[in-house]
Amino acid sequence: MHADLDHLGDANNAPQSDNFYSLLPKQSHSVKDEILQLTFNSSRPHDLVSISLYMDASPGCGGIAWPAGQILSSYIVKKAPEFFQAKIVLEIGSGTGLVGLVAGVLGAKVWITDQAPLLDIMRRNVAMNGLGPCVTVAELNWGTDIPPDIPRPDIILAADCVYFEPAFPLLVQTLVKLANPKTEILFCYKKRRKADKRFFSQLKKHFTWAEVTDDPDRAIYNREAISLLRLCKIDRGQNQVNQNK
Ligand SMILES: C[S@@+](CC[C@H](N)C(=O)[O-])C[C@H]1O[C@@H](n2cnc3c(N)ncnc32)[C@H](O)[C@@H]1O
Repeated sequence: MHADLDHLGDANNAPQSDNFYSLLPKQSHSVKDEILQLTFNSSRPHDLVSISLYMDASPGCGGIAWPAGQILSSYIVKKAPEFFQAKIVLEIGSGTGLVGLVAGVLGAKVWITDQAPLLDIMRRNVAMNGLGPCVTVAELNWGTDIPPDIPRPDIILAADCVYFEPAFPLLVQTLVKLANPKTEILFCYKKRRKADKRFFSQLKKHFTWAEVTDDPDRAIYNREAISLLRLCKIDRGQNQVNQNK
């Protein structure tokens, strides 16, 4: 756990905008055996996505629901469900699994992944939401080979994965291994420190990116230094195919 990772749930008294808090449920860093009920509104009235989320901060920072994960979840719910239908989705650094669980509700075949200590929380959340048929939990450590049972996805989701500088090259390597130039990558990022720019200077050797502009909540979370990016792997022709093998 990286103690200096600021969490908006901890900052209920901090001078952040009321609008932003209306996007997020309250929670605290000392969460232990807590179940959060989250409901996300779709663009179509009466079409809500509800998730029960078991949280436990003791195995690491991923055991609670981070704002970037909630923002990414909220965005994918607002996108037409067709975006996920019959798609293979892989979430990296899933923590509780929230974003991947939402993608599962929306009709995707999903893999939620993280380091070993988080897997039990994710399994519990899959079971609690009855998503066993469409959401698989798997260990995926950034920078290591992709286990053979994890498929190459159509869509990669990542929320709040840029916070620990030694992991920057590992995260880039994993994105490189998983993606091809057609892979849709939604990357929700909270800027915390100047060093974060080193992640982006490593990323730009392999990916281009642009801010997602069709999210009506964008201005609210941008004010809290959170951005939602769409990454695109640079097409290097035949080399690309060899690299992904
Ligand atoms: C700040 S949490 C975000 C969790 C979740 N995506 C969310 O938004 O609530 C960062 C996550 O990245 C995971 N992580 C960090 N380093 C990792 C690594 N080397 N390999 C795989 N996952 C890692 C952590 O275990 C944690 O779950």
